[in-house]
Amino acid sequence: MRKPVMAGNWKMNCDIAEAEALADGVTAHGGQVEDALVILCPPFVALTTVQKSIANSNIKLGGQNMFWEDEGAFTGETSPKMLLACGCEYVIIGHSERRGRFGAPDEADVEDLDAVFGDTDATVNRKVRSALDAGLKPIICCGELLGERQAGDTDAVVAGQVEAALQGVAADEAANIIIAYEPVWAIGTGEVCDADEANRVCGMVRETVADVFSQDVADNMQVLYGGSVKPENVEGLMAQEHIDGGLVGGASLDAASFGALIDAAAASAQ
Ligand code: 13P
Repeated sequence: MRKPVMAGNWKMNCDIAEAEALADGVTAHGGQVEDALVILCPPFVALTTVQKSIANSNIKLGGQNMFWEDEGAFTGETSPKMLLACGCEYVIIGHSERRGRFGAPDEADVEDLDAVFGDTDATVNRKVRSALDAGLKPIICCGELLGERQAGDTDAVVAGQVEAALQGVAADEAANIIIAYEPVWAIGTGEVCDADEANRVCGMVRETVADVFSQDVADNMQVLYGGSVKPENVEGLMAQEHIDGGLVGGASLDAASFGALIDAAAASAQ
């Protein structure tokens, strides 16, 4: 049986004091939960603070991105080694916002968001390889744009992203990987993907993993859904065969909401 996961991606929210308060709130509510894996992914500058808050709990820490080199002249980047030193066990890789697929800055006068946020299937793969080599567990994100869905390309786009991310990964490393399916049109919009459809695509992700490795590896892979997960819809999502948890943005910024999501994940293990 795959352990349910509830991962909070705080994105570019919370200064140090806010991060501490939020982490303390989540820890008070769900710090001792054993039936679900709880992961907090605060901004880099708050990692150390959050690590202190969760130190005596079962909650794990994750980064939101990383560069693939260990050190060097890469201004503004963060290495796997640095994440490990902050206490991270996990790292989100290839989030759609990092792939330049979503999240145009306000008053954007930048036409090519790819050039700003820059991740491609190739860089995602390099980061996955580097994370695994360093001993970090990647949470690999995939997901289609609304236009790709409307054109009937969802499965091809998502399967292509998963295959590309897993290139050069050995089957015995797959136990250290989590995959998150996040349809870009459902992120931060309140527009949740139907539980049935989210389950279908997560099942397709699992089939892709089976094709890359084996059915056994696929059966053990934790596949998460992300995109407007909240207390009101989490039960329906967690009840699905192929959805093993959530990668949560907005609802992870409130300790009570995220606590309810943790409870739902833990309850789904029964
Ligand atoms: P929301 O839960 O705010 O839609 O964000 C989802 C997400 O992108 C998590 O990584």
